[in-house]
Amino acid sequence: MPRTTALDPLFTAVDSAAFTDRNLANLAAGTLAAVRVPGFLDAAPCAAALTAANRLPAADYDPARVPTRIVRFGPALNDYRDQDGRLDAGRYWHDAETARAAWQRAGMRPDPIAISLARLGSAWGAAVAPATIGGRAVFGGTLREINAGALVHYDDLNREFPTGLFDQEVLAQLAFNVWVAVPATGGATTVWRHRWEPADEQHRQAYGYRPEAVEHCQRVSLTPQLGDGLLFNPANFHAVEPNPTGRRIAFAFFLGLTTTGQLIAWS
Ligand SMILES: [Fe+2]
Repeated sequence: MPRTTALDPLFTAVDSAAFTDRNLANLAAGTLAAVRVPGFLDAAPCAAALTAANRLPAADYDPARVPTRIVRFGPALNDYRDQDGRLDAGRYWHDAETARAAWQRAGMRPDPIAISLARLGSAWGAAVAPATIGGRAVFGGTLREINAGALVHYDDLNREFPTGLFDQEVLAQLAFNVWVAVPATGGATTVWRHRWEPADEQHRQAYGYRPEAVEHCQRVSLTPQLGDGLLFNPANFHAVEPNPTGRRIAFAFFLGLTTTGQLIAWS
């Protein structure tokens, strides 16, 4: 395939004082690479959230499946798929309810997830609703500590669960992160202007892809600062660079734009 060095002028990372409905629409449409709101959370709520987060029972991913160590709290639907791309419902709901109870016990005040959802809802003009399965709200906010990096990968609910999962139908998916601890160096998030195509499977590695899959693609890289909020379209391949020291901890969830123009959230 011929390669060109011409750049897409719209595929940029923009800094904004607040998220806007246009940001959300452009990310959903896939033209914009990322929107960052510096200081989305002030230092005090970050510190409070981190203290409370340390009371959460974090678990490691299975090292056989995820070779880079990622500590997490809260179930991600993607980890509860059976071989046919269907939800292992028993296991998922058990873990979701356990996580909800632990979240309550941790007494997170202010709650970064609630703050983030409220502000994104204001930007959109309607409250963000939880994604539901059979009328039941799925777990909507995870905590991820990623110090050893994350492989190049993409997230796309419609591919992960091809027969559908939620009561709502998702047209576009966005990833939200807000950092409550950041390393002094490293830990950049990179988003490539590349969506999955069948030929990418030759570069498969564990849960993601080898760097060759995106080596000729335009990209943006952002190094998180404390309190930064970040939105991007995770259908674009993305990765996290390791940080040699320090802790890189974010609250994270996905947003979906539905066929009825609603924003829904899940993890
Ligand atoms: Fe991701």
